[in-house]
Amino acid sequence: MTHPVLTALGLGDNESGTYLGNGEWSKTRDAGVLEPVNPTDGQVLARVQASSQDDYDTIVERAQAAFKVWRTTPAPRRGEAVRLCADALRAHKDALGSLVALEMGKSKPEGDGEVQEMIDIGDFAVGLSRQLYGLTMHSERPGHRMYEQWQPLGLVGIISAFNFPVAVWAWNSFVAAVCGDISIWKPSPKVPLSAIASMRICNEALKKGGFPDLFFLFNDGGTELASNFVDDRRIALVSFTGSTKVGRMVGERVARRMGRSLLELGGNNAIILDETADLKLAIPGIVFGAVGTAGQRCTTTRRLFVHESIYADVLGKLVAAYKQVEGKIGDPTDPRNLMGPLNSQDAVQAYLDAIAKAKASGGKVETGGAAIERAGNFVLPAIVTGLGNDAEVVQTETFAPILYVMKYKDLDDAIAMQNDVPQGLSSSIFTNNLKAAEKFLSAAGSDCGIANVNIGTSGAEIGGAFGGEKETGGGRESGSDAWRAYMRRQTNTINYSDSLPLAQGIKFDL
Ligand code: UN1
Repeated sequence: MTHPVLTALGLGDNESGTYLGNGEWSKTRDAGVLEPVNPTDGQVLARVQASSQDDYDTIVERAQAAFKVWRTTPAPRRGEAVRLCADALRAHKDALGSLVALEMGKSKPEGDGEVQEMIDIGDFAVGLSRQLYGLTMHSERPGHRMYEQWQPLGLVGIISAFNFPVAVWAWNSFVAAVCGDISIWKPSPKVPLSAIASMRICNEALKKGGFPDLFFLFNDGGTELASNFVDDRRIALVSFTGSTKVGRMVGERVARRMGRSLLELGGNNAIILDETADLKLAIPGIVFGAVGTAGQRCTTTRRLFVHESIYADVLGKLVAAYKQVEGKIGDPTDPRNLMGPLNSQDAVQAYLDAIAKAKASGGKVETGGAAIERAGNFVLPAIVTGLGNDAEVVQTETFAPILYVMKYKDLDDAIAMQNDVPQGLSSSIFTNNLKAAEKFLSAAGSDCGIANVNIGTSGAEIGGAFGGEKETGGGRESGSDAWRAYMRRQTNTINYSDSLPLAQGIKFDL
């Protein structure tokens, strides 16, 4: 029987994973099948038919044709298309949020929150459609004017991860749409249903509004289509969210063909708690950061540095808070639960391996550390102490709820440790000391793309540019001026005088 959460969105138990444009979903039935598994009970939710090479070629050809029209559509009009998508998402927020919770395994409020991020970036993109500003410059030559303009880039390839099955697509595709681009999406094979549902909602809204196809979708039965996608010169920008290992490959291959890539890779995010920290804020901030989404956000809090004077108190409070969470682990579609399962059995194994490694390296598991005996991929959130920041397991991003807690004496040492990992996504300090906060935010402070004071590492708002440094990949998407990655910059010089002076005072008299 089809799961009611699927039925609510008009999805059946055998769906095409390919949107070809022109309102057409592919009829391909021989390119492999994806079987997204409900992480709560291990049952297959539905079958999704993968795309063929022909499907892919059709998509790219249609996307190229669509781009020719879309690039000359006035940007505010492009904003209107995104406005309709955001409105349609508002109407379907509850149903789509439930599907995200069901298929990915995050809690229902977090699933709804993810759809809210789509709506918010939609609103942001609508405003942006009237603000794709370029600068004007003063020419050194008389009777000349210089300015720059931002032109649509072309086709944008979006490869998204399982943990944010819908929001990351919206961050990219909505901003790309107002920039005049057409996007092609390859979601994670673990969550194709959330992708299909999002495409349906948005494409129906576009169609009703009389807009052309702006968003295409394919699902890869293996890795060949995705790999050709990365190498495809027709894809001007590849926006990839996922592991550092795969992201490195994507970045290198796109660079080889001189394409553009936007990489959102792993994080190893830390919170520093100094001796003045307000624990009423810090404890829930840490617990949400470490346990929220069962530790499967790229912004999840993985390391905690606590001033030695408050260490014992903080550890006691955290363990008590974790015990409370333990009572609220279960079916993520039940809004009473705070934590759902991990997304896959592989993730459970990675969690168990990391715990074993932590113990073998001398770590002490203060709470959690085991899988829960029940159907599905449930584990207990873990706190590990006794390891140094340089321990291999601490240096590694394990996509699961494991928090390494460490003691420090001197703030400079804590900042140095927080920076001393290969990744550089998100970071926070909890302090009431102005000097400590400012030091953390200074040029000699956190080296991450996101640095917060008195809030945790995860749950960034869409208005800021999202992304990080070092092995996180350096990409920025979502708010601020991240739109520039989706456009090409052109510098224009116009001579309205009757002579042709050369720049740099060069004389070239004929
Ligand atoms: C991700 O985990 O890939 O800041 C994105 C956050 C969310 C986005 C996370 N807004 O936690």
